[in-house]
Amino acid sequence: MEVTIKVFRYNPEKDKKPSYKTYKLEAIETDRVLDLLEKVKGYQDGTLSFRRSCAHGICGSDAMRINGFNRLACKTLVRDTGATIIVQPLLGLRVIKDLIVDMEPFFEHYRSVKPWLINDEPEPEKERTQSAAQRAIFDDTTKCILCACCTTSCPSFWANEQYVGPAAIVAAHRFIFDSRDKAAAERLKILNEVWGVYRCHTVFNCTMACPREIQITKAIGEVKMALTTGKLE
Ligand code: SF4
Ligand code: F3S
Ligand code: FES
Repeated sequence: MEVTIKVFRYNPEKDKKPSYKTYKLEAIETDRVLDLLEKVKGYQDGTLSFRRSCAHGICGSDAMRINGFNRLACKTLVRDTGATIIVQPLLGLRVIKDLIVDMEPFFEHYRSVKPWLINDEPEPEKERTQSAAQRAIFDDTTKCILCACCTTSCPSFWANEQYVGPAAIVAAHRFIFDSRDKAAAERLKILNEVWGVYRCHTVFNCTMACPREIQITKAIGEVKMALTTGKLE
């Protein structure tokens, strides 16, 4: 089949304003949008810029807006997009070039919630044990690949990039509810700040966008509940 792919183009060093460039190419239904972008770059227009690494839904680097929805290009099939595809950079982050955005504000929010295990108690003789039930509480939020599809689909983040955003809350959730971690109170205090978890108005765009199918809005609700009740189970 013939596919038309319309791609956002912008080089702030050269262009006065963004524009769209249209490419036509042959594809099959099981081609991924990433395959099409690779073909465009390889055979039609080597100036096209986008990020990608694993090409298998693991690294999170090729998140972009495909036909109006945040998706990983390597997990989006032509079968699902149809023959006309519009590709744009993620919203709410500065465009560096074409489909490449500046991820630094996103990672700054991620770092702000201390996304690592904190436990200053003396080390046990063996490992810090945890029951299957304790592990299950935060299993879902361990799956994040930091693609930013969630945060950049959130109207609260679009309104103000100071909002910590769903991805950072997911990362915080992963440690707040880990029985081996001892810094839940510290993280909850950070998320209770003015640009923290209460900027979430339960819009659900984040949950709809997550390529890992993490129940993000539910996790955010659990963090809010922990702030209200002090309970971590
Ligand atoms: Fe991506 Fe999902 Fe992680 Fe958000 S929670 S950064 S959408 S993997
Ligand atoms: Fe935004 Fe998700 Fe909340 S889209 S408002 S973080 S439920
Ligand atoms: Fe790694 Fe798509 S290229 S997730």
